[in-house]
Amino acid sequence: MTSLADLLQKGRAGTDAFIARLPKAELHLHIEGSLEPEMMIAKAKKHGIQLPYANVEALRAAYNFSNLQQFLDLYYAGADVLRDKDDFYDLTRAYLQRAKADHVVHCEIFFDPQTHTARGIDLEVVVTGIVEALHDGEAELGITWRLIPNFLRHLSEQDAIDTLAELEPYMEHFHGFGLDSSEVGNPPSKFARVFAEIRSRGLPVVAHAGEEGPPEYIIEALDILHVARIDHGIRAIEDPALTSRLARGQIPLTVCPLSNVKLCAVPSLAAHPLKKLLDAGCLVTINSDDPAYFGGYVGENYRAIAAALDLSNQDLKMLAAMSFRGSWLHETQKARHLATIDQL
Ligand code: HPA
Ligand code: ZN
Repeated sequence: MTSLADLLQKGRAGTDAFIARLPKAELHLHIEGSLEPEMMIAKAKKHGIQLPYANVEALRAAYNFSNLQQFLDLYYAGADVLRDKDDFYDLTRAYLQRAKADHVVHCEIFFDPQTHTARGIDLEVVVTGIVEALHDGEAELGITWRLIPNFLRHLSEQDAIDTLAELEPYMEHFHGFGLDSSEVGNPPSKFARVFAEIRSRGLPVVAHAGEEGPPEYIIEALDILHVARIDHGIRAIEDPALTSRLARGQIPLTVCPLSNVKLCAVPSLAAHPLKKLLDAGCLVTINSDDPAYFGGYVGENYRAIAAALDLSNQDLKMLAAMSFRGSWLHETQKARHLATIDQL
């Protein structure tokens, strides 16, 4: 006789197979957060850097966070092994190979220029390493891309303005700008001027908001920064008027389920507000944020949240479709991916 456990197991396997077949766009990925422990250790060795961890296991064991700041401290320290153009190329290439395995066909990638300039790394090294890997990935793996520098919100607005000036020679490679790092105490309004400057050049902007910070930060990101998307945005669920506003405007929320659990932004995947946001009509996408630190790439995020919230194949199709609708692809490319999803 088939047990209930067997049936559930079969159901999960079917859902996982369906997820594997869905073309996906990833819209919230910090390239520095895709630095796997193996690569961190190899790069440290290459550059003669002494890491405070003996091996991969010790490093992974340290990935236990109670909040965003604890993660950020480790993430910035880890990024110190990225020193030359090959390092940035290898990092990006490795991410694209993982993305390909998850049937990601389009990615919009963040990087943190200030994390590298603060260590004396030339932005040319950073940008050319990432961009060359993205071009090669597009040619060889068929993954289209956009690139989005993020400003670190724990630093001053003047630092962001200076960084924008330093990025000037590379502007042709960027499709928009974003805001990340320590959220609480660093509201979007702190960056009103620099974001206005970026928008005046016709570039879209995004901001992390409502990850740890209150719903008011999401409202500031909308009203003061005029963002095209909200990164995370999960705390919108605490404010019904804001949730309706996001749904009405179809402002994409780039949600990262495994990240939210790892950083204790939600108590568990089962308690994650993703389904409530979907049911309220919000445009929600599933992303991996910093996959090397949070236990999974985009496919794992889909599988884990589908299991925890009992998402149907129809829900999953809608989420994959939303990842393209929320992307900065051209309308014809969006339509092509949406048609593929429709036929599944
Ligand atoms: N939140 C804020 N800043 C970040 C994150 C995040 O999840 N990952 C990398 N920088
Ligand atoms: Zn993020």
